[in-house]
Amino acid sequence: MRWLRRESLLCRLLLDSRNFVPAMPETPSESPSNRSPDPTFDRILVTAALPYANGPLHLGHLAGAYLPADLFCRYERLRGEDVVFVCGSDEMGVAIMVRARAEGISPQELVDRIHPQIEDAFRGFGMSFDHYGRTTSDTHRETSQDFFRTLARKGVFTTKTEKQLFDPEAGIFLADRFVVGTCPKCGNEKAYGDQCEKCGTALSPLELLDPRSTLSDATPELRETAHWYLPLADFQDRLTTWINSHPEWKPNVLGQIRSWLNDGLRERAITRDVPWGVPVPADVAREMGIGADGKVIYVWFDAPIGYISATREWAAGRGTPDAWRDYWQDPGSRLVHFIGKDNIVFHCLMFPAMLMAHGEYVLPENVPANEFLNIEGEKLSTSRGWAVWLHEYLAEFEPDLLRYALATTLPETKDADFNWAEFQTRVNSELADVLGNFVNRTMTFATRYFDGRVPPLSNPSDTDRAALAAIADFPDRIGSAYNTYKMREAVFQTMALARLGNKYFNDTEPWHTRRTNEEACANTIHVSLQICGALAVLIDPVLPFSAAKLRDMLQLRGVAPSAPRTAAASTGKQILWGDAAAPLLKTGAPLGTPHILFTKIDDDVIQTQTEKLHQNADSGAGTGAADAAPASATAPAPAPAPETPHPPVADEATFSDFMKLDFRMGTVLEAEPVPKSKKLLRMVIDLGFEKRQILAGVAGHHSPEDMVGRRVAVVANLAPRQMMGLESQGMVLMAEDRDGSLHPITSTGENGAVIR
Ligand code: 2FM
Ligand code: ZN
Repeated sequence: MRWLRRESLLCRLLLDSRNFVPAMPETPSESPSNRSPDPTFDRILVTAALPYANGPLHLGHLAGAYLPADLFCRYERLRGEDVVFVCGSDEMGVAIMVRARAEGISPQELVDRIHPQIEDAFRGFGMSFDHYGRTTSDTHRETSQDFFRTLARKGVFTTKTEKQLFDPEAGIFLADRFVVGTCPKCGNEKAYGDQCEKCGTALSPLELLDPRSTLSDATPELRETAHWYLPLADFQDRLTTWINSHPEWKPNVLGQIRSWLNDGLRERAITRDVPWGVPVPADVAREMGIGADGKVIYVWFDAPIGYISATREWAAGRGTPDAWRDYWQDPGSRLVHFIGKDNIVFHCLMFPAMLMAHGEYVLPENVPANEFLNIEGEKLSTSRGWAVWLHEYLAEFEPDLLRYALATTLPETKDADFNWAEFQTRVNSELADVLGNFVNRTMTFATRYFDGRVPPLSNPSDTDRAALAAIADFPDRIGSAYNTYKMREAVFQTMALARLGNKYFNDTEPWHTRRTNEEACANTIHVSLQICGALAVLIDPVLPFSAAKLRDMLQLRGVAPSAPRTAAASTGKQILWGDAAAPLLKTGAPLGTPHILFTKIDDDVIQTQTEKLHQNADSGAGTGAADAAPASATAPAPAPAPETPHPPVADEATFSDFMKLDFRMGTVLEAEPVPKSKKLLRMVIDLGFEKRQILAGVAGHHSPEDMVGRRVAVVANLAPRQMMGLESQGMVLMAEDRDGSLHPITSTGENGAVIR
């Protein structure tokens, strides 16, 4: 059934891309987009990993799960889909206890302080949750206990009495992060009792070599205790069949799952002897002859159930308490989990096994997990203070700037890097110079010379017609990237429309035609305003705050909200995503006052941020939270240096040898595999003064979508070469590690900048 759904989705996408209606003014209403929502699913349920309420959020959190989830939800809502987006604070488990102990407060006091801080940061960045819950709520306790009870009564669990590590000084069993020791797989001496963060292996405390209590540093002793286990091996075949039915999932996700499946799944204890968590239901314990006293449900069993609890709370909050079932239990629901890569095993194997065991739930349609985000080339570390905190960012900058900069750099296929200089370039050279500039010059012309109204389009030239027709392609082009979780590509395509607008404005030179040909000038401003109108819809997922400002400037009313409405929904006909394919503004319609959408950021502001990052790290101003918590966004340590020696330095070159080569900065505009070649990508690179086709042997290291949008260094005066029947007009420079991996060389210099 899932196969059929996916096949039909594919067919629909293909049909859609052929289904564009060339745009001609004046009325927008008959565009292709007021068509019905996605026919393959009736509704969409999106979850984003519940962050531990043990410390503030940082950039890695946003890039890992929340921003991509929000982009996806806003896009789908604008398409007219029925979307519910849930998240909440993960407030149970040992990570919370360890942090609370470090602060000398109770776990409840800790989560009561941190939960609102997290909520504030999410609100500040415009995360469009339909509900943000917390796992200390009554609904969550009941929902997870009910789930546990159902599985227990179905005979899914096993129970057994075993010897476990006990801290004789602290008087507590040492579950999960209460114990550290040496990882039996990779030798990391700081592996936790539930997972080695260096190699990713899931562990149980007894597997650690030389275990030590993190509470007292005591060497633990073994004591007997009874627990419930989820025998994942019983689900191995069903999980394998299900995963095999999803070849379209991201390769980084499938790779991790297949490696777990190849190793063979093992049982996992799903209860703990710790004083903080959802209590094991007493009736179930009685039925199974085990004392439930002091036993709680393992946090990785209850946390994903938190998604269900949050959906129940959302449904209750809107007065339809049973509506949550439509999203969790009806096969017409498309369930998508957005997470970071350290959560893959729980969302792709353990939680699906729980859902299969229960029997009444849909399984995720996709789990588009992201890799990690580094900061200024170094692994993000909250304990070391090497992080950019969301609340600190919000005190100084607009949320949209970071939403955009991060969306262009998301670690979709491999770890990515955030650095402040690139943030500045994205804001200054893309948001301000391209999008902001285009909107501003259009609005200024309309206000100054056309009485603040949309001028008419009369006798349009071929250039005017071509620009209008080009708009029609964008909703589907951007939309299919969002729909297939290629957020970077979607944002790149969005900005391509603003670039197109700027180019059209330049080509038609309204500053000349204003004096020489008023009709042509009016046409330019009419068409430019229509491009602004399309942008006011299409930039919304990534730049929701700026999109609202732009709609105000254009006086464009009736665009479907991309976030849940707080007030009563409007009843009139709404402008949906696909409507942006055709002109949205009527001739003669009044416009609002022009405002600058994006202000450029000065070098000293960026320098202050970079210095702050270094100062925090030098002073050890970390939160300590990552020491206690599996930091969803903490990258694993770099692989140990390979034994291979560095290649010898090449023969001496004279200065004039060096000066013969002309290195320039460029931006990759297009990238695609070269047919019949495993190694080559064909790229189109903008060198500022011209565009070049360059073939590079990087296909084994970088996907085309990974290269698009990258700033690269190019040898610009290399004689053209024929490769696989295509001409390569230069060479892209890459740093090559000793293991052969290739890394583009980048800079913030403008396209065409000379590199010396
Ligand atoms: O890794 C984490 O930060 C966990 N708190 C994520 C939980 S996701 C879900 F299962 F709730
Ligand atoms: Zn390890």
